[in-house]
Amino acid sequence: MTPRTVTVRVPAKVNTQLSVGPARPDGFHDLANVFLAVALHDTVTVTPADDLRITCTGPDAAQVPLDRTNLAARAAELLAARHGIEPRVHIHIDKDIPVAGGMAGGSADAAGALLACDALWGTGASQSQLLDICAELGSDVPFSLVGGAALGTGRGERLTPLEVGGTFHWVFAVADGGLSTPAVYREFDRLTPDAPEPAAAPALLDALRTGDAKALAATLTNDLQAPALSLRPSLAETLAAGTAAGALAALVSGSGPTTAFLCADAEAAHQVAAALTASGTCRAARATTSPAPGATVLTD
Ligand code: C5P
Repeated sequence: MTPRTVTVRVPAKVNTQLSVGPARPDGFHDLANVFLAVALHDTVTVTPADDLRITCTGPDAAQVPLDRTNLAARAAELLAARHGIEPRVHIHIDKDIPVAGGMAGGSADAAGALLACDALWGTGASQSQLLDICAELGSDVPFSLVGGAALGTGRGERLTPLEVGGTFHWVFAVADGGLSTPAVYREFDRLTPDAPEPAAAPALLDALRTGDAKALAATLTNDLQAPALSLRPSLAETLAAGTAAGALAALVSGSGPTTAFLCADAEAAHQVAAALTASGTCRAARATTSPAPGATVLTD
């Protein structure tokens, strides 16, 4: 019997290394993208319905499109089309990941909807078929499905899983309003006309493998940080406030404007989160940990 409802939990991500190459003829950029899933989650629930419908709850719900431009709707449509069925499903997103924040929230919803619809419809797609659909939906979507830690090459969609030897403690400072990812990449192109071909940094991979937070702090890099700061100069104040409060390292998360602070332990993370909240340089600050598992079915 097929289930009546399926709920999937999907993590956010931070990029511990985001090295960006020159723009390709297709407009995308080759990346060396070291993804780490973090324990902030969206929850996607699917239920049979007369037509494809999306609803959303959560603090940022008003910013989420509820039409077929939502990546979760496109995920359901693509899976249905591949299996010759109609996407008659109500997708409900309980959103805790910042919207347009550089934490792959939209990608998480797409991966979550895909896995949930696969279970609801009994389509039985293999992991590699699901990953193919994810890559068609967006560069970060495959990683949202698998979680943990991985090196993304190509435009970020070709994944090699990475070992992580411990728990890392992070604080994420949520900014007011989002930043457009294409706009941040365009600014990167303007600021970096001669970008070299990107490559993963061995020291960073070692730091992940050994679970050494200080070593990881020394190797975190994000090529989209300078363009994000150029478009949103006030983020420099948030980064400075987190560093002053004792974070081991501060950086823009992905294309921003969320900022990420790596901390020595859980206590330091709570102190940094409290200081960032009090600083008035961000809308909210959240302490969390990594790595986190990828999209996971909770009930079916
Ligand atoms: O793949 P996704 O739809 O998430 O990408 C959103 C936008 O980000 C792309 O349209 C492109 O402007 C930019 N991008 C890029 N190079 C990548 C990934 C994304 O230029 N590797």
